[in-house]
Amino acid sequence: MIEDFAQGHRHPDIVILTGAGISRESGLSTFRDADGIWSKVRIEDVATPEAFARDPDGVHAFYNERRRGMAGGAVAPNAAHEALARLEHEWPGAVTVVTQNIDDLHEKAGTGNLIHMHGEMLKARCEDCGHVVHWAGDMGRGDSCDACASIGAMRPHVVWFGEMPLEMERIYGLLDRCGLFLSIGTSGNVYPAAGFVQHVRRRRVARTVELNLEPSEGASLFAEAEYGPATEIVPAFVERLLEGK
Ligand code: APR
Repeated sequence: MIEDFAQGHRHPDIVILTGAGISRESGLSTFRDADGIWSKVRIEDVATPEAFARDPDGVHAFYNERRRGMAGGAVAPNAAHEALARLEHEWPGAVTVVTQNIDDLHEKAGTGNLIHMHGEMLKARCEDCGHVVHWAGDMGRGDSCDACASIGAMRPHVVWFGEMPLEMERIYGLLDRCGLFLSIGTSGNVYPAAGFVQHVRRRRVARTVELNLEPSEGASLFAEAEYGPATEIVPAFVERLLEGK
C-alpha cells in the first residue's frame, strides 16, 4: 500500500486538512450541520470585516461566547486529534496539519506541525499595528494594544469571509510536495481549503483520502473515502498507515 502512493519513496510527506467535524465529538459545534453555528447566527452579522465595522460589540460578543466555551479546559481533544499527533511523531516522513478550525485542540493533543489557515480564537490582533497576542478572556472596544497602546483596535485574530486565509504560499508548497493528502471533518464548502484536493490531484503520484461523517461537497474528487465519526475512523486509518510503514 505504501508503494501505491509514495512518490517513489516509502514514506511520503503527508498533509492533513481538518475542519469543524474533527472537533465535533469534543463538544464544539460545526458550522453547516443542522444544529451548526450558521443555523443560529448569520455570517454577515459576525464573520465579515463589514460586520465588525458596523457592530464591533456584536462581533466581540459572538467570539467572547465561543472563547468562554473553550475556557478552563472545558473542551478537550478527542481520539481523532490524538491520532494525528501520534502520526506526526511516528511517521518517518513529514506530517503537517492545515486546520480551518480556530480552536486549540490540535495543539492540546500534541500536534506541532500545524497551520491555522483561518486564524485562532485564543489570539487577538491590533488593527493599528498588527501585533498578535494570546487572548483567552473577553475582548471589547475598551481594550488596548500592549504593543502600540491604541484603544479599541483589538480584534479576534480570525480570518473572516472576504479576508485572505493565512500562510497560503507555505500551504501550496506543502501540497506540491505531499504524497498523501487527507481531508478530515470538512464539508468542502469554503475555498481555498475546498480546492486543495484539486491542487494535489494535478500530480498523479499523490494519494487523496476523505475521512468524514458523510460525503462532502468535494467527495467525488477524492480517490478514497471512509465515512463515520472521526473518533472511530481517524485512529483506525492512522493505525493502518503506521502498521504498513
Ligand atoms: N466526525 C467526522 N466528521 C463530522 C463529524 C464527526 N463526528 N460531525 C460532523 N462532521 C462533518 C460534517 O458532515 C461536515 O461535512 O464535518 C463537516 C463540517 O462542515 P462545516 O460545518 O461546513 O465546517 P467546515 O468544513 O470546517 O467549515 C469550513 O467555513 O464557516 C467557515 O471559517 C469557517 O472554518 C470554517 C469553514
